[in-house]
Amino acid sequence: MKDKVKELIPEAEITKRIRELGEQISKDYAGKELHVICILKGGVFFMCELVKHITVPVTHDFMSVSSYGDGTVSSGRIKIVKDLDDSIQEKDVLIVEDIVDSGRTLHHLLQLLRARNPKSIRLCTLLDKPDRREVEIPVDYTGFSIPDLFVVGYGLDYAQHYRNLPYVGVVEA
Ligand code: IMP
Ligand code: MG
Repeated sequence: MKDKVKELIPEAEITKRIRELGEQISKDYAGKELHVICILKGGVFFMCELVKHITVPVTHDFMSVSSYGDGTVSSGRIKIVKDLDDSIQEKDVLIVEDIVDSGRTLHHLLQLLRARNPKSIRLCTLLDKPDRREVEIPVDYTGFSIPDLFVVGYGLDYAQHYRNLPYVGVVEA
């Protein structure tokens, strides 16, 4: 992988925005406990930074779903690769995702998780591409809304590469 990646959102901006999101979430959940569900693999980089700024008690779990192949085009298929370890019954759940694109992955996930009777369920995404939405889903916390571009970095991959970039960028052809 030797493509050029053009920076779209610098690391400092991401760090600042994640701190703001953490502070907002801490206010919104004051007096409660939060059960954070990280969507692997992309969400983990964002989640690790986010929870450092959450001041209410937090527990974590992880889930892995696949919706994309190794390219930039949706396969239209969604399957659970790894399910949660713990029950979410009666918990205040926050789903942490890297990006909402068509919305299909989260739409599917929300249906599945709501059926497990959490006390509440909200969504937090680092990036949102609203122009690409095919299914309406409630996004409660958004880091950045971006145009219809295929982005990498901060957890986002192109054929499993570039997740470790500390910024968000666009792969140049
Ligand atoms: P959705 O189901 O179309 O909303 O797709 C969500 C998933 O697609 C994300 O969790 C990502 O794994 C992947 N995805 C969507 N857009 C991008 C992108 O621009 N770069 C990398 N992965 C993306
Ligand atoms: Mg991906």
